[in-house]
Amino acid sequence: MEQTINYIYNKIEAINPIHSKKLKKNIAFFDERYDKLADAFFKKYIQILQLQNKTLDYAIDCYLQMIADVNSETIEFLRTGKYTSSTFEEVNQRVYARPETMEYYMHGLIMSQFLWKHHYQMLDYFINTLPGYRNKTKSYLEIGVGHGLYLSKALEILDDKTTLTAVDISRTSIALAKSFINDDRIAYNLENIYDYNNGEKFDFITLGEVLEHVENPLQLLLKIYGLLSDNGVLFFTTPTNAPAIDHIYLFNNVNEIQAIIKAAGFEIESERSFLSEEVSPEKAEKFKIAILYGAFVKKAKITQ
Ligand SMILES: C[S@@+](CC[C@H](N)C(=O)[O-])C[C@H]1O[C@@H](n2cnc3c(N)ncnc32)[C@H](O)[C@@H]1O
Repeated sequence: MEQTINYIYNKIEAINPIHSKKLKKNIAFFDERYDKLADAFFKKYIQILQLQNKTLDYAIDCYLQMIADVNSETIEFLRTGKYTSSTFEEVNQRVYARPETMEYYMHGLIMSQFLWKHHYQMLDYFINTLPGYRNKTKSYLEIGVGHGLYLSKALEILDDKTTLTAVDISRTSIALAKSFINDDRIAYNLENIYDYNNGEKFDFITLGEVLEHVENPLQLLLKIYGLLSDNGVLFFTTPTNAPAIDHIYLFNNVNEIQAIIKAAGFEIESERSFLSEEVSPEKAEKFKIAILYGAFVKKAKITQ
């Protein structure tokens, strides 16, 4: 494992020494839990890459391509105070409907789960908290499944009899998730979530980094409210101040995210904020440094 991580860091250092310096700050933080999780991940991931005649070098290149996108989006964001795309159609044309872009983006994103401290922390929070919902989750839905890492963890944690469904608008994401998970217990749907409705209600819904991809996050949360069973739970994550090629909706701070959750009729059971850099939350908001927010929420009780 150490060998694989060192290989990745060395390769990144040779190609992008500035980014490598930033990444290396994370190393001190990673503990034994990280080592175990990353070890299992890279073993599996390298095998999947090999089956597709790809190598770890290919995945590193994808990651660096994603970083180049983030850097140019960040320059624009700091200059204008806005994300570069403002409509779903723009992002659909620019990203979701372009397999070559989605391909490097999703490989880059899955690598970031083990290279960025805040991405790893969120995954760890999910893995530690989901078991508490195991008994009451008979049906599970993931919206915007992307690379499939979160779904693969849900599959490991939830009961064998739980039904699992995944929805994503991108053909490339669905193909990648399928190759990463390869389990016929999962029903995959290539669909815009706004069009998805088979009449089923779910006990648990996961929505990882999708809210910032829509024009109206409140509308998406209301859609999800309708897909959730009465005692169901939603786990969602979304960042503040995080420019990317497919981000549309800008959350300026965590309060704005919490307010929208409340407005959609949810109450928070547990929540976490993970900073993308070693600064205080106040400084992050002031200097527009990303915070990744995640929460387990349920339908709020209606009080008379
Ligand atoms: C940034 S990725 C997130 C992947 C993964 N959930 C995670 O947390 O890392 C966003 C995913 O949501 C999908 N997506 C975006 N808008 C969507 C929509 N309206 N309906 C369904 N999927 C959507 C994209 O295709 C992409 O696979």
